[in-house]
Amino acid sequence: MKILVTGGAGFIGSAVIRHLLAATDHHVVNVDKLTYAADLRSLGTPEASGRYSFEQIDICDAPAIRAAFERHAPDAIMHLAAESHVDRSIDGPGEFVRTNILGTYVLLDAALAYWRGLEPERASAFRFHHISTDEVFGELDATGLFTEETPYDPSSPYSASKASSDHLVRAWHRTYKLPTVVSNCSNNYGPYQFPEKLIPLTILNCLAGKPLPVYGTGTNVRDWLFVEDHATALVRVLTEGKVGESYNIGGNSERTNIAVVETICRTMDRLHPRAGGAPHAELITFVRDRPGHDFRYAIDASKIKRELGFEPSVDFDTGLERTVAWYLANEDWWRPLVERQYGGERLGLSGVRETAKK
Ligand code: NAD
Ligand code: TYD
Repeated sequence: MKILVTGGAGFIGSAVIRHLLAATDHHVVNVDKLTYAADLRSLGTPEASGRYSFEQIDICDAPAIRAAFERHAPDAIMHLAAESHVDRSIDGPGEFVRTNILGTYVLLDAALAYWRGLEPERASAFRFHHISTDEVFGELDATGLFTEETPYDPSSPYSASKASSDHLVRAWHRTYKLPTVVSNCSNNYGPYQFPEKLIPLTILNCLAGKPLPVYGTGTNVRDWLFVEDHATALVRVLTEGKVGESYNIGGNSERTNIAVVETICRTMDRLHPRAGGAPHAELITFVRDRPGHDFRYAIDASKIKRELGFEPSVDFDTGLERTVAWYLANEDWWRPLVERQYGGERLGLSGVRETAKK
């Protein structure tokens, strides 16, 4: 197949492309605008495969997207391009509405026109795979799991924009019969993650000897999925998923945020002790909570296991150790990002009113 991957210079998209080029014979067209979160270095040397091309395009640019479909005649789309950080969506929701909702509409519109022009055999094999998040389901309390049937109830501008895009994708299937498939996954972690997210931010703050900000009391729970497992699952959903269906993808690794940060601290104590030997956990600092902070996300991943035979292969402790070791060994990757793009400052509090005023 020739697969058009949007957002292929981002964290998960680059893992998908590395996987496609290393473990399959598929051809890849990477469509990415190259926002602050993108880094083509995450792909290594994909041109060496002879099966890779890159188009710097904003997915909201309808003529450019239509032209890319005509030029490359893809067999499938994997749509990952998005604004992806909850805290940035609180500070500036407009870009999330534009890219995540309007951009998905532009892609669907172009894909539909292109799909309608395909001969019947290629048209029935065509897939539009939309990659989404478990955050569309809102928050759980201490019990329960998100299934594919859980009603949508997003909290943040980010999750609301992803929920909107999921609805558009489903509508394009139900109304126009575009062969779509949707996946909703839990929090990803692993190599090449932009250092605004909890795990890389904590690792790099440990290295710099800076405070490790934990929002609220640190008792919020996330399920963690190693990014390379996610890439494997996504290709499985694309190639074997049933048209019109959605699949939840989880890591079977629920942790409180404070447990995640403490595990990173202990791993850093072993792999990169501080001068003087003080524990990294001394740097943990509880800070003002995120507005609208969802308490818990947890996934029932039985459908993808039952129907597509996918289960994560990397447990959290192994994946976290690999991730910490990767950041320690790859300063040349993250140093320019920290110096030029994002220095670790707190995001996600602007424009939010204090709830309790004295
Ligand atoms: P990321 O922020 O690391 O990368 C996003 C990529 O999309 C970047 O390369 C960026 O340049 C590109 N992009 C952004 N706006 C664009 C536009 N207008 N046109 C073209 N390209 C554009 O994100 P990620 O963590 O790799 O997430 C990928 C997808 O997976 C997103 O759709 C996200 O909602 C979803 N997801 C992520 C997680 C997670 O834990 N990271 C969890 C669940 C779902
Ligand atoms: P994040 O990595 O931003 O992912 P998401 O908001 O999509 O779950 O945050 C993961 C969890 O960690 C979330 O509950 C917020 C919390 N968090 C902190 O406690 N401190 C931080 O500095 C960051 C960035 C997040």
